[in-house]
Amino acid sequence: MNAIEIRNLSKSFRGMYALDKLNMTVPVGAIYGFIGENGSGKSTTEKLICGHLVPDGGEIKLFGRDYRDAGVRVRVGALIENAGCFPGSSVWNNLMMQAINLGIEEPDKEIERVLKIVRMEESKNIKFKSCSLGMKQRIGIAMALLGDPALLILDEPINGLDTDGMRIMREILVDITTKYSTTVLISSHILGELEKIATHYGIIRQGKMVQELSAKDMESRARVFISLKTADMQGAKKLLSEKFADVRAEEEYLRVYDVDDTEAIVGYLYEHGYVVSEIKKNKIGLEEYYIELMSKKEGK
Ligand SMILES: Nc1ncnc2c1ncn2[C@@H]1O[C@H](COP(=O)(O)OP(=O)(O)OP(=O)(O)O)[C@@H](O)[C@H]1O
Ligand SMILES: [Mg+2]
Repeated sequence: MNAIEIRNLSKSFRGMYALDKLNMTVPVGAIYGFIGENGSGKSTTEKLICGHLVPDGGEIKLFGRDYRDAGVRVRVGALIENAGCFPGSSVWNNLMMQAINLGIEEPDKEIERVLKIVRMEESKNIKFKSCSLGMKQRIGIAMALLGDPALLILDEPINGLDTDGMRIMREILVDITTKYSTTVLISSHILGELEKIATHYGIIRQGKMVQELSAKDMESRARVFISLKTADMQGAKKLLSEKFADVRAEEEYLRVYDVDDTEAIVGYLYEHGYVVSEIKKNKIGLEEYYIELMSKKEGK
């Protein structure tokens, strides 16, 4: 079953399409990394799923049911933009207000539960305004987790976090999906970080889904290349280009794409009088995959 299934979703603002017949499929249990440049329509999609905006057309199904069904709405938790907390109130009180709003039974127990997930049991008496950015983001997630949602929607939750903050966030997200089998939709520009946790990706551009793929698919599609250094880079590039289809000079290395036999390359260059001083096998990561895909779409 899919946690989210979107077909032909459209939304315009003042006659301009923010989403143009968008399709999206998020399997249950996924950490779905939602990627796209500024203004591509990520937040709009998330707001539509949460019912904060009304679509012009199309269909949104959550766990196989129409997204407006009350029974399904209570299974969605979201952090979009900010947590909407009262700065002068403590972490605990902010969570309590939200828990009461949601009509949660035994709110104390539920607040303890979510504080534990976001590793903030010790900070519950701190005023929201005194919390660091990383803590505020975690409180936002705790708010979204109240009531134990089956689907969690997070809009750029790791923006602005330091290395440690990102690591904690990563651990929390993995915890949520593995221990509580929550599905997570997460938009982010920090691809290197997303790559460490996402099981699926959706790449959006100008309101349309350009590609959806699993992390496994990406792994198998991601091109391999060999990078190397030699004294005469220009000469080596010319020679390698005679034999290999895609050879590029990138910074101080030559890259030979779609090849992983380093010995064959060293041997070939040596036969023609080039001595390789450094050589390495590489695989394109999410960031490069994304840049390549975008430049293809632009017809560069
Ligand atoms: N309330 C609104 N009124 C008018 N235009 C809007 C509104 N919300 C979004 N838009 C427009 O819709 C398009 C998509 O915006 P959206 O915020 O969904 O992009 P995004 O992918 O989340 O971008 P970012 O990475 O900057 O957060 C943009 O062109 C934006 O200007
Ligand atoms: Mg956005």
